[in-house]
Order: sequence, then C-alpha cells, then structure tokens
Amino acid sequence: MKEASLVLDEAASDFRELKFRVEKFEKLKRSSCPGTDWGPSILQSSDHRRPHALSWEDFEVNEISFLIPFIRDDVLIGDAYALAEIVKDDPTNNVPDSIFSKLGLQLHRRDQHPLGILKNAIYDYFDTNYPNKFDKFDGLSPIVSVKANFDDVLVPADHVSRSYNDTYYVDSQTVLRCHTSAHQAQLLSGGHTHFLVTGDVYRRDSIDSTHYPVFHQMEGVRVFTPTDWEDSGTNATSYVAEDLKKCLEGLAHHLFGDVEMRWIDAYFPFTNPSFELEIYFQEKWLEVLGCGVMEQEILKRSGRTNDIAWAFGLGLERLAMVLFDIPDIRLFWTNDQRFTSQFSKGQLGVKFKQFSKYPPCYKDVSFWISNAFTENNLCEIIRGVAGDLVEEVTLIDNFTNKKGMTSHCYRIAYRSMERSLTDDEINDLQWRVREQIEAKLKVVMR
Ligand code: DAH
Repeated sequence: MKEASLVLDEAASDFRELKFRVEKFEKLKRSSCPGTDWGPSILQSSDHRRPHALSWEDFEVNEISFLIPFIRDDVLIGDAYALAEIVKDDPTNNVPDSIFSKLGLQLHRRDQHPLGILKNAIYDYFDTNYPNKFDKFDGLSPIVSVKANFDDVLVPADHVSRSYNDTYYVDSQTVLRCHTSAHQAQLLSGGHTHFLVTGDVYRRDSIDSTHYPVFHQMEGVRVFTPTDWEDSGTNATSYVAEDLKKCLEGLAHHLFGDVEMRWIDAYFPFTNPSFELEIYFQEKWLEVLGCGVMEQEILKRSGRTNDIAWAFGLGLERLAMVLFDIPDIRLFWTNDQRFTSQFSKGQLGVKFKQFSKYPPCYKDVSFWISNAFTENNLCEIIRGVAGDLVEEVTLIDNFTNKKGMTSHCYRIAYRSMERSLTDDEINDLQWRVREQIEAKLKVVMR
C-alpha cells in the first residue's frame, strides 16, 4: 500500500481553491499508478504539526486554505506527469518531463543561492521600511487554475499569453503559473493587504543565455484605505502611484546602490496606470520590473470596493544576473560546486568568477515548416533531448520558394558548463533532435 501526502501552506484563504487542489491531487494519484491500493491521504499544515485525514467533512476550512502539493519528494506527481509528452496532438497537456522535473526545487528558498540571497535582500528592504507590514509567501504551489493565472487578473480572453504555445497547461483548467500575479486575487480575498509572493514561474520560450522556461518572480501588493489618502490633497490614484514609485526607487537603490533610473509608461491588464522601471547599468538601460495601480475591478471582486492598491512584479534571474555577474541563466540550476560555493547567505552582489568555459559545438538543422510550426515547440523538443547542454537556438536562414514553401535553418549551440562534450555525444544528441523534430513537428526535413 502506498501513501501520498499533500502539504498545506499557512496562507489561509479560499475554500474553492482548496477543494480544487485536493481534487487535483486525488486525480493525479489515481492516474499515476492505476490499480494501486492507496492508503489514506494525509493533509498536513506546512509546519507538519497538524495532520488531517483527507475527507471533506473532517476538514476544517478555516484552519487551512491553500494546498501545496509539495511535490519534490512526492514521486507521485512526477510520475503522473511523466506520462505527458512534449508536443502531442491532444493540446490539453503540454508539459514535458524536463519541466516537471523542476517542480518543487524552489531555488528561491535556498539562502546560499543567488536567487535566495536576492529574495532575502528584498525582504530586508521591506522589513526595514515597513516593519511587520508585509506578509511573505514563498511556498505557494506553482500549479494554479486558469482562473487564478488569467481571469482573476483580467487577462483578456484572446491574450497571447493564454495560448498553448506560450503557457504550460496541465489540463484545460490548470496551468503552471506564468507569473506570480496568479496569487493576487486569492491573497486579497483572504484578507491580506500587504504581501510579497516569490515563486517559480513557467513559460514556453526560445533558448538563449537569458531565457529559460522556468524562472522566478516576486510580486508585491499594498492596499490603501480611504483614510490613507483623504488628507493628502491629491486624488487616490496619484497618491498611490507616487507611493509606489517612491517604494520601488528605494528598492532599486537598496539593491544597486547609486544608479540612474527612469520610469517608462507600460501596459498590463491588471494595472492602470502601468509603469516599468529601468536602471542604467553597465552602459545600458535595463528593465527591472513592471508595476502600477491595481485595476479597481480586482479589488472590487475581492470585496474591497472602497480601497485602492499598487502592485509590482519583478524577475529575480534578470536582477541576479546583473548583481552577481552571472553570464548564463542555466547556471542557476547547476549543482556544480564551482558555482554554488561562490555564494553565501546574506552576501548580495558578490561577483561570480567564471570557471573554465568549454568550447561550444554548433549544429544546423533545416526543414520546410508548416503553418502549425512555432519556435517555442522546436525549442522544447531540443531542450527535451539535450537538457541544459543546449545553450542557444538561432534562426540563421529563412526563405520562401516559388511554390510558397518556407524553409527555416536553425543553428543549435551545444555547450556544457561543466565538462567537454565528445563528438559522439553531440552527434547522438543532434540525431535525436532531428528524429524528434520530424516525428513531432509535422515539418519536412531538408
Ligand atoms: N505579471 C507581470 C509579468 O509577469 C509583471 C507585473 C507587472 C506584475 C505589473 C504586477 C504588475 O503586479 O503590477 O510580466
């Protein structure tokens, strides 16, 4: 008899979300090993002190409300998804094993890891400037409903980010969150008015040194009530926008020291007005974060009709690459001691010393594409075969012949950060990449 467990987070809020997660977990359990005699599921609070039998009736909703299927040492969930294929005809599950294997690793919770160090430095800023104000969440499950990821933050029904080409769908109602904004509505409804949410986020994308299909974000939200702005002499929106900018400029100074910054007008579905903050760093303007005054509709739906709020979202890798001089985003995932030993708790901005670079090896692949072809699908196939040995995929030739057929040629750069690759190894990878492209992408090889 096998046993499965779900671990619950401390953040109590939404009963429906809870029920959704439990049902999902139960379904996964059944589908992962059909016919297995399952023992009782155990629900635990994240401090492991309060086990519960898994039955709706026994279950005290007020006590716990978020389910965190964590996951890492829970072989179950990994097994269930090992069944998923990379690009399959049925569009409802497009999560490959290479992505599922990342669930639960939680780099941002490691105090010695650049992402954990950066998260803690941001926490320090908020703790110093707003003592005991911001609730912090860094263990919320990345498996969220489509509603939470898109609808609740007002992402339009036809927005590209909802497409199977851009987002990982577990099933038609469930995604791997593509941003930490997915938790805004739940936490607001749960009564939180000041919070920071840090977590791993997932996006289908192209391959180069700054893009990886899993990365980390931090979301910040602060709610204001009418008494906060009534005596300010300005209207609520200006008051909140000004507070937001002051807060984030302070954060940028805290992280980067005395840098030049500028605000750019932006668009996000969940904020209005919206802005991006850029800093001038190493002779370039670098976008650091997106933010704005939260759309009133989001607050209204969470029962805060009279209030107003700001929100921001920032990408941890992007900042950490600059702060620690980390040249390739794959390094965040390596266990190579030559990387990990260079960072320690509380040491923000220690410059990474590059260890010996092994030579890259380039291989080209050309094919006639069909209408269904997308570069994200191609990259996922390559990543599925070569894992972190692929460094970059670049379109180097693109033409359409007289018959209207379009040919693409991609150059794949293979390079390990840890060792030299042999010719045989690379030829084998390339051969498997070609085979999978042909089998899964409906293209004609040249
Ligand atoms: N969710 C946005 C993204 O992933 C980032 C973001 C922008 C978050 C503006 C916010 C915000 O909370 O107000 O690109």
